[in-house]
Amino acid sequence: MAPGLTSKTPPPHPSGRELEEVSDQIDAINILLSSPTPTTTTTTAGDSKPKSNFRQYLTAAPQVKALYKEQHEKQTVEYNLAARKAFHLTVRARMGIWEAMEKLNALIDESDPDTSLSQIEHLLQTAEAMRRDGKPRWMQLTGLIHDLGKLLFFFGAQGQWDVVGDTFPVGCAFDSRIILSESFTQNPDSKHPIYSTEMGIYTLNCGLDNLLLSWGHDEYLYHVVKGQSLLPAEALAMIRYHSFYPWHREGAYKRFMNEKDWQMLEAVKEFNPYDLYSKSDAPPVVEELKPYYTELIDEFFPKKILDW
Ligand SMILES: [Fe+2]
Ligand SMILES: [Fe+2]
Repeated sequence: MAPGLTSKTPPPHPSGRELEEVSDQIDAINILLSSPTPTTTTTTAGDSKPKSNFRQYLTAAPQVKALYKEQHEKQTVEYNLAARKAFHLTVRARMGIWEAMEKLNALIDESDPDTSLSQIEHLLQTAEAMRRDGKPRWMQLTGLIHDLGKLLFFFGAQGQWDVVGDTFPVGCAFDSRIILSESFTQNPDSKHPIYSTEMGIYTLNCGLDNLLLSWGHDEYLYHVVKGQSLLPAEALAMIRYHSFYPWHREGAYKRFMNEKDWQMLEAVKEFNPYDLYSKSDAPPVVEELKPYYTELIDEFFPKKILDW
């Protein structure tokens, strides 16, 4: 068990709150950028409203800008391989899914319950919105667990930059459709003879399974769940790619997609609105919903205690 994770509920982690604050701001930006129908037409400057809102938002949220700057400088192939190696060498904790939800909630906690949702509330709201829409049980469960990878922050992550934020592949040229892509000039891989090329270390239609995606809560949870659940491929894609906005929203990296990935893209697009837009729903009553979801967890996680 990782330091700080004891059987007693730990006190709120002050930097956990900061992580959540910045993560909420990232979501707010993605809501602006995902706006399906711009509320106004394009301005004379060629800037549509959501985009100009986004620039204004960034000015008001310097932490997000700082996070992306750091993320874009430090997510390199070398770091990625080291993070993957460390993941496979260690078991950071052993616990069930519901316990992980409570743990994440307790570690991050809420400094201001009036303005932000707790982790458990966000997870339950995502799942409940899917349930209300008659989505399959495996998808409801995916909604329930999709952010549990944020536990990584307490398992020796180097900062916020390797836990939250939009994701992208390393090992090939950084796409200009990645948010704030200008900051990649400071990433050493942007000058690497192979990593800076369009195909990089990959081949045409090699499949997204084969990409080294930037390390963060999505990639981490995907690896935890992959070998320890009965969830279908679509669920794993929803987990792994939910922050891969350059791909699922902006249409980048199509050259690496194989046939399966086109199906996965549909799944991720179906998932995304539940993540972004269920936050305004009424807060769920955790204890009332717990029996339904613990049964759902048992259905897809036959091994009750997972390695994290
Ligand atoms: Fe997330
Ligand atoms: Fe989320």
